[in-house]
Amino acid sequence: MIDIHELLAFLWKDYLAITPQAARVHTVLEARGEIIVNDHIALRTFDLPAVGIEVLARPFLACGYEPRDDYEFPDKKLVARYYQHADPALPKVFVSELEVGKCSPLLQRIVAELVGAAGAGAPDRPIRQDGPDWPDGPPLVTAGRPWPLSFATYEQLLGESEYAAWVAAFGFRANHFTVDTGALRTFASLSELNELLLASGFELNASGGLIKGSPADLLEQSSTLADEVEVAFTGERHRIRSCYYEFARRYPGESGELFHGFIATSADKIFESTDIRR
Ligand code: NI
Repeated sequence: MIDIHELLAFLWKDYLAITPQAARVHTVLEARGEIIVNDHIALRTFDLPAVGIEVLARPFLACGYEPRDDYEFPDKKLVARYYQHADPALPKVFVSELEVGKCSPLLQRIVAELVGAAGAGAPDRPIRQDGPDWPDGPPLVTAGRPWPLSFATYEQLLGESEYAAWVAAFGFRANHFTVDTGALRTFASLSELNELLLASGFELNASGGLIKGSPADLLEQSSTLADEVEVAFTGERHRIRSCYYEFARRYPGESGELFHGFIATSADKIFESTDIRR
């Protein structure tokens, strides 16, 4: 059986490799004596049978995670589901997928070709070689980009769906991790943390305001703007937006229990952290 801690550690290492700012955020927080707790990780995919939400979530279900709420993002043609583990120390897992059938015939054709070519070679995956010895073979969520991709195709996708372009370029891996700011001891509020991040030189996603959601929603979120990294495309390399870091503050509901779900209108804006032009 997959060891959930090994899987999460693998995804974290892989995320850091294309999100160098996440390590810098840790340095800033740890300098204040903070211990960082992860609220959730987010995964992205296409809604095709071979790679859909349920396939991506399989190793988490095998480790005892259970599906919770579903969400819809009609403007972005996305749906999502989150999974939670009985062990509160384990992060929630938020998995979204693009509803490919609602996209243009061109996008549908490109995505079908990519998924059909999965396993045909992934030149950007040296990190995969030193992963754990997965008992039943590596789960899809650790695959990275399992298909070749030309920069022209990436740009075609980008013209229609930033989300589709991101999945095409980066494949299966964590899109972001999330600092549980309720577990931080030296910040009275999420805005205090945002102030420190801005003062430390990080750029934050301002779409919908720096803080998405409110205490009345039981969830406040903010995020950095995605890093830019060099990615190998067929025959050339280009710098493109990779991943961002998120910060979440949760509040207790009427029952007194902490709210563990998500707010669709906030998540809709957070998705744009990989999109916003600097
Ligand atoms: Ni998130």
